[in-house]
Amino acid sequence: MDYKDIKQKLQSALSPKRFIHTLGVVETGIKLANVYNVDERKAKLSALLHDCAKNIPKEKKLRLCKEYHIFLDDIMLKDIELSHSFLGAEIAKREYGIKDEDILNAIRYHTTGRKNMSKLEKIIYLADYIEPNRIPFEGLEKIRKLAFENLDEAMIFALKNTLDYVKKRNKIIHPLTIEALKSLSFNNKED
Ligand SMILES: [Fe+2]
Ligand SMILES: [Fe+2]
Repeated sequence: MDYKDIKQKLQSALSPKRFIHTLGVVETGIKLANVYNVDERKAKLSALLHDCAKNIPKEKKLRLCKEYHIFLDDIMLKDIELSHSFLGAEIAKREYGIKDEDILNAIRYHTTGRKNMSKLEKIIYLADYIEPNRIPFEGLEKIRKLAFENLDEAMIFALKNTLDYVKKRNKIIHPLTIEALKSLSFNNKED
């Protein structure tokens, strides 16, 4: 499948709102890839497909996760929406023919993050966070600026912001998010 085919198939799988968000992530992902010397094509594909499972109805999400042997921990079982990134990676592989592991991981960890993220994973995480169609929220402008100055500092700020947001709403924090923050803080101290 070439990029055009993927884009067309994806458009029919997403709501118009989600598709517009996705195009924003593609635009921002390309810009960040150029700043940080990451393969632009990989950034484009990861961004395009990052939410490919988002609009699948809950029941079907659960069923597909079972079928594809995607492990759902207690937190994901309680908040099935969290599974869309893990399921998305699997669908990107099976339905859109993506084989590149870095692209698949960028899709897989775009919601929770994880420890030792690759540059591409960080770029997609941040592009998802700051794309131009996002409804303004506290900290957004700061992350928008930081993302183009220092990838790791932007990640640390964005992850902390997410943790605050989740805490305020009494939702459960995913351990992968804490691990992501820890590994970034640690690596940056060592520099
Ligand atoms: Fe997402
Ligand atoms: Fe997204």
